[in-house]
Amino acid sequence: MGIAYFRTAGTLLTGTGSVTAIGEQAVLLKASKVALITDKIIRETGLLSKVMTPLAAVGLQADIIDDVVPEPPFENLEMLAAKLTGKGYDLLIGVGGGSALDVTKVLAVMLTNDEDVREFIGIEKVKKPGIPTILVPTTAGTGSEVTYNAIFTDTRDSVKKGIVSPYLLPTVAIVDAELTLTVPPTVTAATGMDALVHAVESYTAIRAGELTDGIALQAIKLISRSLRRAVYNGNDLKAREDMSMGSLLAGISLGNAGVGAVHALAYPLGGKFNVPHGVANSLLLPFVMKYNVVADLEKFAEVAKAMGENVSGLSLREAAERAVTALAQLSQDVGIPSNLKEVGVQATDLPALAEEASKVDRLLQNNPRWLTANEILKIYDEAYGEEGESVNSPMSEEVHA
Ligand SMILES: [Fe+2]
Repeated sequence: MGIAYFRTAGTLLTGTGSVTAIGEQAVLLKASKVALITDKIIRETGLLSKVMTPLAAVGLQADIIDDVVPEPPFENLEMLAAKLTGKGYDLLIGVGGGSALDVTKVLAVMLTNDEDVREFIGIEKVKKPGIPTILVPTTAGTGSEVTYNAIFTDTRDSVKKGIVSPYLLPTVAIVDAELTLTVPPTVTAATGMDALVHAVESYTAIRAGELTDGIALQAIKLISRSLRRAVYNGNDLKAREDMSMGSLLAGISLGNAGVGAVHALAYPLGGKFNVPHGVANSLLLPFVMKYNVVADLEKFAEVAKAMGENVSGLSLREAAERAVTALAQLSQDVGIPSNLKEVGVQATDLPALAEEASKVDRLLQNNPRWLTANEILKIYDEAYGEEGESVNSPMSEEVHA
């Protein structure tokens, strides 16, 4: 066994109501001038009062900066950094989905490093730690609150690019399910399936290890038992709690064991067809796992068990394959489109998508089964679907939007 690093946020606060402790955390960090980074949609929901009130109780008034845009380009970071620079901020609080949290992580290091943000693209390119951050996710989730990477759109070539540095790890992450109660069903479904993909991919990844395996399996268990309820009854706090904890655990596992081919094949769908990240991952998950399953029958059988499937009496092979059908069923049940045609991909697009996905070496090398561009094309072909085969649930149309 080689050396394994295990990294996560400095402090994790979990549980319903945990956001009320944000004031204490800011005091512990000796904050005196605070910026709250978010987007306009979150601001309109009124959720920010749940952060501002406990801050006010300790005498802190945060400046609200609500200019984060979805799938943020590097220009968004540059604009925000210009707003924050020279103002003496000593704590950034990020509130929102993956975009707001990723932006907050990178802004914190932009305030202490002189280089252009594009020089941070890649692995460990950031020179110095940033100012402290507290991240508060409002979806379950990207896991961004516990990972040390951040993804942005490069408008020069329409490709998503990552900044990977331990300096991006937040000082504090606060995961409070109450903040997710108003998330609409389509977003709950897509982000919840993304979290499940994080758990399944990191559990079966080449870099998976003892520290991450148990965490990933617990995430699979929590998400599998509660995602349907969280989607179809958003007010079910117990289901939302499972999803918030499942997403956090999946994020911890992903942050240390990495993800694989599902994410690699999903990226071009986001970049070229604007398919939301969670929808792209969820759609591709059964097809990639069908390909991967023979590479680790034991682990896939464990996935099936964690999903609550009854595998007694089944052979190892049958139990492993049960995981693939259960994942496809869950994705379909929460209204994710079941083939690429439904998200606007044409058959003639597939070779270019495969070419693009085959370049995502960082993820492909972590997949349990080797893939060439040819195998990737075969998986896309299968995911493309045949005429009349598409499964249209009542939610499919909204998920496209
Ligand atoms: Fe993801």
